[in-house]
Amino acid sequence: MREAVNETSWLMAGARGESYLCYDERRDTSIEARDSRHDETPQLGKGSAMDVSFATHILPKFRPGDVACMARAQVKLNDAAWMCDPAGATGYRDHANARRVFSALSKGIMPPDGPWSPDWIATYQQWMDSGFKP
Ligand code: HEM
Repeated sequence: MREAVNETSWLMAGARGESYLCYDERRDTSIEARDSRHDETPQLGKGSAMDVSFATHILPKFRPGDVACMARAQVKLNDAAWMCDPAGATGYRDHANARRVFSALSKGIMPPDGPWSPDWIATYQQWMDSGFKP
């Protein structure tokens, strides 16, 4: 039913001569458009069943400067064993390392020079939801 409504509004917008932009295209005004690094790594399609892994989808999003800066604070962004470690810690029942990183990313605290795009945050969330695969 929802698909039928979307299809109808698409057709109506077309009939009114409006250019129809999908949700992702509309986001071009957001940080992806301002910051080319957000185009450089594999993205997940909406509702994609694609397997999300640290090596393919998360690691390439960390820049050498992120890794170097955070290594000083013992946050090992480029270390799959550390990032996928299932151990819990204060405040986190499991996968404390990855969840602490996610907390900083999703709050926009890190990286300090500009937050990740919503798509990147969603990909990280999907990586966690699908089992923190290396
Ligand atoms: C994607 C990139 C980055 C991620 C995911 C990240 C992640 C984190 C995390 C998880 C923390 C600990 C927050 C907490 O739990 O209290 C943190 C702290 C911090 N980060 Fe980052 N970071 C990133 C980039 C950077 C960069 C590029 C710099 C330096 C320019 C930096 C400097 C710091 C500093 C100074 C702290 C506080 C360290 C401390 O509490 O000892 N981070 N970051």
